[in-house]
Amino acid sequence: SKTYRICTLPGDGIGPEIIAEAKRLLEAVGTACDVEFACEDQLIGGAAIDATREAGEDVSALPPATLAAAEAADAVLLAAVGGPKWNDTRPGAVRPEQGLLAIRKNLGLYLNLRPVRVYEALRDASPLREDRLDGVDLLIVRELTGGLYFGEHRREHGVEGAGVAGAAGDKAVDTMEYSEYEIERVIRWAYEAAARRDGIVTSVDKANVLETSRLWREVNHRLNEEYPDVEGEDMLVDNCAMQLVANPSQFDVLVTENTFGDILSDEASMLTGSLGMLASASLGTGTALYEPSHGSAPDIAGKGIANPIAQILSVELMLRYSFQMDDAADDVAGAVEDVLNAGWRTADLADDDTPEDKRLSTSQMGDKIIAAFQARA
Ligand code: NAD
Ligand code: IPM
Ligand code: MN
Repeated sequence: SKTYRICTLPGDGIGPEIIAEAKRLLEAVGTACDVEFACEDQLIGGAAIDATREAGEDVSALPPATLAAAEAADAVLLAAVGGPKWNDTRPGAVRPEQGLLAIRKNLGLYLNLRPVRVYEALRDASPLREDRLDGVDLLIVRELTGGLYFGEHRREHGVEGAGVAGAAGDKAVDTMEYSEYEIERVIRWAYEAAARRDGIVTSVDKANVLETSRLWREVNHRLNEEYPDVEGEDMLVDNCAMQLVANPSQFDVLVTENTFGDILSDEASMLTGSLGMLASASLGTGTALYEPSHGSAPDIAGKGIANPIAQILSVELMLRYSFQMDDAADDVAGAVEDVLNAGWRTADLADDDTPEDKRLSTSQMGDKIIAAFQARA
């Protein structure tokens, strides 16, 4: 049978708890499909910072061995990084998030897909009025290796007039840059995807203020002409933030730059009921990486109550995009749906009406989804 090598990156906080469920599911998928998923854990984020420091190596959130393993793997599955332990704001401090940015950049993963699906059973879990969720099914295409994230980040000390009341003080600089080709490749992907979906691309920018956005908008118009069967539109990001809660079903494919996509996708996750539902695929030139859209959730870490579904649906995306195992991917998505339809809920999806005997821990949710997968496969 075929063997796929998966570089698994548990990271920090709830990371190890949720990725454990995804690995168990992968094993079940392997058994059902007669393929082997050979998972190998590597260090990233705060866990890597601590380990490299302890070993007396160069302190790093992405040790060279991790990057090498990711490059050599058939796919990377990441959980989450970061936490209060590593929140040193002093300039020059090594932060867990640098590990994530560095692996994305080094693997050339310029495209981040965040599908927002409303599950019928979770309609009442969303804070939005249920009728607003009718027909919601959108794909957020986020640029991932450019913009503010990868501009210059700099601090200047003792700058005249930068302090309070005219005194000398600190000044901080972050720059936002985009080249035409960086914009083109993500917007093109959005048009290609829309052509296979409902045929609408909403390109989100701040062209009334930002030069990068004006370039972004020009590229969108050019591509719009190349794809006559796709309806292309521009939307300002502040309006988009409002439209996402006022009238989310108008969207099909939403394409935007790095920072806007980060913020809008967390907002959009609440259409599904919880940030714990939102998976993502990071694609580009190197090994593809699959990760939940959420973070390490330090507020619930170690309690065994995190929702593993975003991580599990990231496996679904891996099966689809990296291994062309569409049937297995459909069964994973279907298994999640079956479990939700049966009323099972992790804490983030539960409310006062959720019966006590339907409330699940992280590993119990993993058990249910694996059983539902096996029943389908
Ligand atoms: P977060 O996404 O970790 O958590 C936000 C809120 O959502 C919290 O209340 C959390 O409990 C809840 N939540 C998130 N995922 C959940 C899940 N699977 N199940 C149940 N509840 C869940 O955002 P934050 O608290 O702002 O950030 C915490 C740390 O995570 C920071 O260090 C941040 O940089 C990092 N972060 C990492 C990633 C990543 O690794 N991809 C993404 C976002 C944030
Ligand atoms: C995400 C996260 C990351 C990002 C952070 C942790 C660097 O918020 O994947 O959405 O902003 O890209
Ligand atoms: Mn984010």
